[in-house]
Amino acid sequence: MAANLALYPRLGYRETGRVTGDGFRRVNFEKTLAPRIALKAPVDGLYGRRRVHGHTIDPTYDRYALDLEAPAAPLVRHFEVPVGAVRLEVGFGGGEHLVHHARSAPDVGLIGVEPFESGMMRAVRDVAAEGLANVRLYLGDARRVLEWLPDGALDRVDILYPDPWHKKKHWKRRFVSVDGLDRLARVLAPGGVVRFASDIPSYVAWTRAHAAAHPAFAMGEDSATPWEGWPGTRYEAKAFREGRTPRYLTLVRA
Ligand SMILES: C[S@@+](CC[C@H](N)C(=O)[O-])C[C@H]1O[C@@H](n2cnc3c(N)ncnc32)[C@H](O)[C@@H]1O
Repeated sequence: MAANLALYPRLGYRETGRVTGDGFRRVNFEKTLAPRIALKAPVDGLYGRRRVHGHTIDPTYDRYALDLEAPAAPLVRHFEVPVGAVRLEVGFGGGEHLVHHARSAPDVGLIGVEPFESGMMRAVRDVAAEGLANVRLYLGDARRVLEWLPDGALDRVDILYPDPWHKKKHWKRRFVSVDGLDRLARVLAPGGVVRFASDIPSYVAWTRAHAAAHPAFAMGEDSATPWEGWPGTRYEAKAFREGRTPRYLTLVRA
């Protein structure tokens, strides 16, 4: 590692931390890349600073990008390796949870969606570094991906710490809503699940109420304990640091 640790700063990388896990000691670096290519797809329906119209991203993104111009079905054909099931993660932040699951289940296709450019760049870097061929990424609004996906194509959708939009006048922006659950119901296979995690009690209560009222969903687990094999997320770690307690809900597609 000594040669690598000396090399990366010379290439303009900045060390961001050291972590130990899964039997490895890792040193994380980051580097802000110069704009290279224009985004192909406009990003609609987003708010505030995360709007990325006209921004650019590293060309490695192209290798892993989900192609919404291509026919969606059969969805498994969008992956570089044969996959038996496909899952979607909405708003993956820095991609740590997505990368963990892509690594642990190489025969499951994972679609990760994130409109925030620096989070996407971090995920692209990690996916490329590990050569994870079962991942497809989309820089933009997950609602566009949901519109594109074939009926019943997913066995799971992860919505982990979605933006809560605290003000009442902004509640229509919440990802979980009547429309949101309609879209999720269409793309989930029967028995498929939505995993929802949040540290905001009012959003948890909102999601329970919406799931209970929606004919296509039944409430599964509603727990203070995360799902088995849960690696945590970057936002969750922040919630714990700030003294908030998460809740983990499983909504089952009837
Ligand atoms: C509070 S962060 C949580 C990030 C990550 N899931 C975690 O737990 O660390 C919410 C994320 O959702 C993303 N997001 C917001 N609206 C979105 C949308 N319409 N489609 C996809 N992602 C969205 C944001 O950019 C942000 O990264």
